Amino acid sequence: MDQAERLRELVKIKKQESGNFENENDSDEISFINKKTSTKVIAVASGKGGVGKSNFTVNVALELNKMGNRVMILDADLGLANVDILLGINPQYNLSHVLKEEKDMKDIITETEYGIKVIASGSGVKELVNLSNQQRNRFIEKISELEDIVDILLIDTGAGISKNTLSFMYAADYSIVITTPEPTALMDAYGLIKVSSLNKKDIQLKLIVNMVNSKEEAREISSRVILLSRRFLNIFVEPYGYIFRDKNVLNSVMTQKPFSIQYPDTKATQCIKQIAEKISAKILKENVQTVNVPQNAGNIFRKIFEVFNR
Ligand SMILES: Nc1ncnc2c1ncn2[C@@H]1O[C@H](COP(=O)(O)OP(=O)(O)OP(=O)(O)O)[C@@H](O)[C@H]1O
Ligand SMILES: [Mg+2]
Repeated sequence: MDQAERLRELVKIKKQESGNFENENDSDEISFINKKTSTKVIAVASGKGGVGKSNFTVNVALELNKMGNRVMILDADLGLANVDILLGINPQYNLSHVLKEEKDMKDIITETEYGIKVIASGSGVKELVNLSNQQRNRFIEKISELEDIVDILLIDTGAGISKNTLSFMYAADYSIVITTPEPTALMDAYGLIKVSSLNKKDIQLKLIVNMVNSKEEAREISSRVILLSRRFLNIFVEPYGYIFRDKNVLNSVMTQKPFSIQYPDTKATQCIKQIAEKISAKILKENVQTVNVPQNAGNIFRKIFEVFNR
């Protein structure tokens, strides 16, 4: 991909399996923006709620920042914002001000004491939950205003297969799907992979298993989702790692100080560091590559083992 090239195309897509959409408030086809800019945009999503998306996003952002990347989090859990709570910040402005056209995206950026920037969503703002297609697309287009301000933009999305979440996933360069080993979370992760890939065949999906008790459990769970997706959906989901169940995660949520700061050596932080290294290394590699090499979906087992045997 030519870094200088700003390829932005508005693609009209058919609402395949649209019966699965939550918060459906109008019956038009949804559209999405396929965005390729020099800023790496990564969406964090899950089928089931409460699997650890926001904690992952905040802590991986902090680790990526420590590695020298300029990082911003966009809280796209519209109407149910959590990122500001986890960081212990109280942003003056949020996305509802952009929606009301009182502010531009750039005006609502909150600088944090940790060096990362945050665009907060409004909590309990009904208008953010019930965005029209046009409003949603305008929001996503505005992501390009953030280009060049940061190297990595992490988008923390709301759980489930909503139009909001799917649109942010389509706007991103790739999406990280988070699950836990619980069968319900696994089923919902598979559901999200299925619906998101039906609408966009070339969607780039990575998988992280959170709250695992062992590396073996992580490998087993990861393999199951990846092989099912390959077999029944013909989608290669790349294994991206795992995060141990760790009581310090909850401790840090209670004190509103991210666990990677408060507990730099705890098990969950070690896992987050490994994932951040992977994200950072890939970006570095892609930036020096002159030719975009298509992802080799050939040897799934090798890829799964590469992640879990380090
Ligand atoms: N690795 C972990 N170990 C132990 N507990 C965890 C871990 N990750 C998350 N949790 C617990 O799960 C809770 C929910 O996490 P979080 O808010 O990040 O999930 P979420 O997916 O963003 O939820 P939502 O779908 O509501 O946005 C945390 O408050 C914490 O108690
Ligand atoms: Mg969340």
